[in-house]
Amino acid sequence: MGYIKLSNITFTYNDDEKPIISDLSFCVDRGQCVLILGDNGSGKSTLLRILNGLSFPQSGEYLFDGEKITENCLKDNVKSKLFHKEIGFLFQNPDVMLFNAKVYDEVAFGPRQMGLSDDEVDRRTKDCMRMMGIEDLYDKAPYHLSGGQKKKVALASVLALNPSVLVLDEPFAGLDKKSETFLMDLLFELKESGKTLIIATHDEARLERLRDVSLRL
Ligand SMILES: Nc1ncnc2c1ncn2[C@@H]1O[C@H](COP(=O)(O)OP(=O)(O)O)[C@@H](O)[C@H]1O
Ligand SMILES: [Mg+2]
Repeated sequence: MGYIKLSNITFTYNDDEKPIISDLSFCVDRGQCVLILGDNGSGKSTLLRILNGLSFPQSGEYLFDGEKITENCLKDNVKSKLFHKEIGFLFQNPDVMLFNAKVYDEVAFGPRQMGLSDDEVDRRTKDCMRMMGIEDLYDKAPYHLSGGQKKKVALASVLALNPSVLVLDEPFAGLDKKSETFLMDLLFELKESGKTLIIATHDEARLERLRDVSLRL
């Protein structure tokens, strides 16, 4: 049985319109890297929102590690916390993820919420900032950063939660060539460390490069 399993999912934003996602089924095993390619407007972000329990399909079933994920079950605080601890989501638009006054606090936010000790929070925060190469942004206001820098801060804050699944929506958008290579290598390392990766992009050239990265394994 798959770790993440979608069965016959159909999703529409407006009941009177054609579904954005129609009768979609797929399985993802632990440690797998899944790449999703599609044009703008094809429903990639919608699918990732469903995987993260932010939108719910009208029909079909979503199983995460054997648990049925529904709007109702995520109203249960304990279940919702467990689910969101396992699955980390990088939104397409990092602005919606950044709300702290300083980059350090942004990355530390998740670990603090998890109730870790101050030392552990500090260690994780610094490790993840180092991993993303953003140590120099420590004291900066996320709001004033460039798009690419915001993306890195948002990704560092996802990594700080240490989820076993990383769902990344257009992670390369706004990144320069050097940062792109850096992120490709990081994704390779994350996959090698056993993380499950689900990555959506509209960019075929980058997907090709990513595929090469995942084939290195
Ligand atoms: N909140 C929403 N309400 C209504 N329609 C939406 C909403 N979000 C996205 N859509 C529509 O759903 C379709 C798929 O969007 P999206 O999942 O963002 O595509 P992609 O990420 O592949 O570019 C688009 O036509 C978009 O306009
Ligand atoms: Mg999108």
